[in-house]
Amino acid sequence: HEEFTKVKNIATIELGRYEIETWYFSPFPPEYNDSLKLYFCEFCLNFMKRKEQLQRHMRKCDLKHPPGDEIYRSGTLSMFEIDGKKNKVFGQNLCYLAKLFLDHKTLYYDVDLFLFYVLCECDDRGCHMVGYFSKEKHSEESYNLACILTLPPYQRKGYGKFLIAFSYELSKKEGKVGTPERPLSDLGLLSYRGYWTRVLLDILKKQKGNISIKELSDMTAIKAEDILNTLQSLELIQYRKGQHVICADPKVLDRHLKAAGRGGLEVDVSKLIWTPYK
Ligand code: COA
Ligand code: NA
Repeated sequence: HEEFTKVKNIATIELGRYEIETWYFSPFPPEYNDSLKLYFCEFCLNFMKRKEQLQRHMRKCDLKHPPGDEIYRSGTLSMFEIDGKKNKVFGQNLCYLAKLFLDHKTLYYDVDLFLFYVLCECDDRGCHMVGYFSKEKHSEESYNLACILTLPPYQRKGYGKFLIAFSYELSKKEGKVGTPERPLSDLGLLSYRGYWTRVLLDILKKQKGNISIKELSDMTAIKAEDILNTLQSLELIQYRKGQHVICADPKVLDRHLKAAGRGGLEVDVSKLIWTPYK
C-alpha cells in the first residue's frame, strides 16, 4: 500500500550556508528519489542532485531574494509575497522543501490558489529565507494560514511567532478574522497557544471594565472559537448566571503570561505595505 512506502527519502539538504537534516518524506519527482542529499538554490529554490550542478546554477541565477513583492522591511528582516500563479515553479519548490519538515500536511501542488509569505534575513549577499507561511487566496473557512515553517537552523528564535503575528496583521488589514488550517502539528499548536495567550492576556491586563469575546476578536482578528478555547484552557472563563465571564485577576494573568514564553519578534505594522488580494 502506498502509505507504507512513504519512507523518508532525502536525508539532508544543503540550503545557503546550512546543511539541514530532514524530518519527513517529501514527494520529489522520481528522478530525485535515489539521492540522499539534495542541493537547493537558496533564492529560486531549484534543487539539484550534485554540488557541481548547484555551483554552476549559482553562477547564472540572478535572484538574490525570493521572487514576488517585498511587502515588509524592518532592519534586516524582509517579507516577500509570492503569488503561486505567477511563480508556479518557486511555489512548487517551496512545497517540496517544506514537506521535508511537515508531517501530516497534505501539500497542495495546486499552488495557483495560494500566496506564499517568505521571511528573510538580509545581508550584503542577499535575502536568506528563514521561514514562510502559505495562505489560500480565497478561504471559505476563514483560514488565514495553511502551512507554516521555520527552517530548523532558525527555530526557537521567535520567527514562528513573527510569522503567526504577520498572518493576523494581514487579516486585520482585510477586516476579517482568521484561523490556521487544521490539523496543527504539536510545534504548531505550541506556537499558536503561546501567541494567542500573549496577545489576549496583554489586552486583558490593560483592560478596565468588561470586554467580550467578540470585542477581543475584533481587536486581534483571532477567531472567537480560538479565543474561547485559549481562555478556557487557561481556566479564565467562568460560567455565571447563564453567561461566560472572563475573569482577569492580574496576578493570574501574569503567571500565565510568564508561562507563555517569550513574545517573539515584533511585527512593526507601520513597515507593512500591502493591500489584500483581489
Ligand atoms: N520544544 C518546545 N517548545 C517549542 C519548540 C520545541 N522544539 N519549538 C517551539 N516551541 C514553542 C515554544 O513555546 C516557543 O516559544 P518560546 O521559545 O518563547 O518558549 C514557541 O513554540 C514558538 O517559538 P518560535 O521561536 O516563535 O517558533 P519557531 O520559529 O521555532 O517556529 C514552528 C515554530 C511551528 C513554525 C516550527 O517549529 C516549525 O517549522 N515546525 C515544523 C513545521 C510545523 O510543524 N509547522 C506547523 C504545522 S501546523
Ligand atoms: Na498547519
